[in-house]
Amino acid sequence: MKILVINGPNINMLGLREPDIYGKQDYNALLEICRKAGDEAGAEIECFQSNHEGSIVDKIQEAYGAFDGIVINPAAYTHTSVAILDALKAVQLPAVEIHISDVSSREDFRQISYAGLACIKTFMGLGLEGYRQAILYLAGHISGK
Ligand code: DQA
Repeated sequence: MKILVINGPNINMLGLREPDIYGKQDYNALLEICRKAGDEAGAEIECFQSNHEGSIVDKIQEAYGAFDGIVINPAAYTHTSVAILDALKAVQLPAVEIHISDVSSREDFRQISYAGLACIKTFMGLGLEGYRQAILYLAGHISGK
């Protein structure tokens, strides 16, 4: 089973970036959490991060036929990108949305998630642990548990 983990803009700045909201662990720590969650779930994990909307759309398209599912934190593009929503719908892979912070308790402009409309579940407000839960949930869904 192959799961693609996609992170959007500024997730590479974890640790430095607003630590009160996103925590002190850096992007390498996130990669390690995903790798371990993959071992736990019996899934092969590939992580991809980009600050560019089109690159994320390209990566989702490339996942078709190559991955069994997608875990995605589109970051700021969550709230703006119809293109990422359309790409997720196009490839029809099971997708799980993850946010480090609890976006539901933040600014009004964060209250819409376009990508979330194409996802089977959303994890938010759990910090980096949310990635582990998202990977385990998606792996369970793919294997039909
Ligand atoms: C985020 C929440 C988004 O609103 C924000 O733009 C991000 C990160 C999160 O993981 O909590 O960049 O997706």
